[in-house]
Amino acid sequence: MKDSVTRFTPSERWLHNVVMFSVLTLLLTGVGMIYFNLKGDQGATRQSLVRTHQYVSVIFLVAPLLLVMMGNKGVWKENLRLLTTWGWKDLEWLMKKPVSALFGNIHLPPADKFNPGQKTWATLAVAGSKALAVTGLIMWSVPSPILAIMIHTAVGVGLGLALLGHVFMAVGNKDTRPSITSIIHGKVDAKWAAHHHPLWMERQSRRRVDERPEFAVVHLHAEYVTGKS
Ligand code: HEM
Repeated sequence: MKDSVTRFTPSERWLHNVVMFSVLTLLLTGVGMIYFNLKGDQGATRQSLVRTHQYVSVIFLVAPLLLVMMGNKGVWKENLRLLTTWGWKDLEWLMKKPVSALFGNIHLPPADKFNPGQKTWATLAVAGSKALAVTGLIMWSVPSPILAIMIHTAVGVGLGLALLGHVFMAVGNKDTRPSITSIIHGKVDAKWAAHHHPLWMERQSRRRVDERPEFAVVHLHAEYVTGKS
């Protein structure tokens, strides 16, 4: 990719993609079970959906823990800080975003590695996953726990709906679609990143120059030659 920047390391991509495939399987098998319940059919197909749901739930619970333990602690710490730190600028971003999406031409506060919309999704995804894990484990070990079943189904449906928004941003919306390569090979176009995540790109460029000071000279030279400076 021409003039690209690394957005996600291999461990970040493994974590995202293992969660992505397990959640999609859990949602599909969950919807399948609801369908057979409504039909009053407890036959072999429903039983195999239940077993798949249970096996994949173990992957969903255990694999992220192993991947976090095996990955770079510095990267996890920084992502956690960036995803959980909120300020007034984030609130301003969230209030202005719907207006800018509808009418354009509205200046949004500059975003870091994750914009406030992404932070909101990450918070919902983690909270929802925890609720699903707790209620799911109760359902696995206690016969007919009505409250746990109700919470598990409601949170599953809610998370599935929120996921539709996340998937739309990743593949449907043309402004954010270029980010899809970040979960495939880790890199995104540098110009796209500078436009959508300027605070993050600024930090990345400073890091690059701190690690390899010659980049500053090469960068300035390139700007001089292309007349961009
Ligand atoms: C078909 C399914 C999915 C697709 C296509 C997808 C796509 C993506 C992409 C492209 C990014 C990177 C965005 C960027 O570089 O700025 C991302 C980030 C992320 N994804 Fe997914 N994802 C999917 C499913 C999931 C699921 C099931 C979860 C969790 C339950 C999840 C949680 C996250 C989180 C927390 C982030 C970081 C915050 C953000 O960028 O929104 N994703 N996803």
